[in-house]
Amino acid sequence: MRIIKVKDYDELSREACNFVLNNMTQNEKLVLGLATGSTPEGLYSNLVESFKQGKASFKNVISFNLDEYVGLKAEDPQSYRHYMNEKLFSHVDILDENAHVPNGASINIEQECKDYEKLIEDSGKIDVQILGLGLNGHIGFNEPGTPFSSRTHIVDLNESTREANSRFFHSIEEVPTKAVTMGIETIMESKKILLLVSGKNKAEAVAKLMNGDVSTKFPASVLKQHKNVTVIADEDALSEL
Ligand code: GLP
Repeated sequence: MRIIKVKDYDELSREACNFVLNNMTQNEKLVLGLATGSTPEGLYSNLVESFKQGKASFKNVISFNLDEYVGLKAEDPQSYRHYMNEKLFSHVDILDENAHVPNGASINIEQECKDYEKLIEDSGKIDVQILGLGLNGHIGFNEPGTPFSSRTHIVDLNESTREANSRFFHSIEEVPTKAVTMGIETIMESKKILLLVSGKNKAEAVAKLMNGDVSTKFPASVLKQHKNVTVIADEDALSEL
C-alpha cells in the first residue's frame, strides 16, 4: 500500500481530487467506484469545482457506488442515491444512465445484487475504487466476518455501524438494519483502490489496518493483498501508528 500523508482534511480532499482527475485524463473511459459517508464529501466538492472551472468532464465516466440501504427509495434524503445526487451527480455532466447506485428499494434485492455485479462486469470492471474506512474496519458495508470471496450481497448492519451512521438520521431507530453492498471480492477486482482516512476517530482503525494481520475480522486488511492501493490519510488518522 502506498501511503500519502497529508496535513488535514482539506489537503486530503484536494489530493484525492487530483488522483481522480489524473485517472480521468489517463483513461478514455473511466469506471469509477464511489463511496459515501463523510470522508469523500470534500473530494466530491473539489470534483464539482473542477467541473465548473472546465477542468473536468464526466461524460466518459461510468460510476458504481459501493452500497445502499435496503428499504430507502432513491428520493429518500437518507439514501445514498440522494447523497450522490446532492454531492456530485446533479452538479456535473455525468450521464444518468452511467451513474449506478444499488437500488435498495428493489422488490427483489437478490436479483438486484446479481444485476449490479453484471453491470460492473459488462462495463469492464472498476478502474478506480474510492473507499472510506469504517471504525470496525468495514469497507463498503462489508462488516467483520464477511468472507473475502463475497460478491454484491445483502448485509445485516452491525449495531456499531448503525450507531456511527445515526448522525445522518433523526434517531438510531430510523437507521435501516440492512444494506446492499459490493462484496469484498468485487472491490478487490478493481484495478486501483484509493482509500481515504481522516480524523482522530479513525486513528485506531488505521493502526489496526497497518499493523494487524490480514483477517476477515478486520475487512479492510484484505487491501494489503491488492497490487495497487493508495491510502491518503491525514496526520490525525495516522497519529496512532
Ligand atoms: C459507511 C459507508 C462506507 C463508508 C464508511 C465510513 O457506513 N457504508 O462506505 O466508507 O462507513 O464512513 P465515514 O467516511 O463517514 O467515516
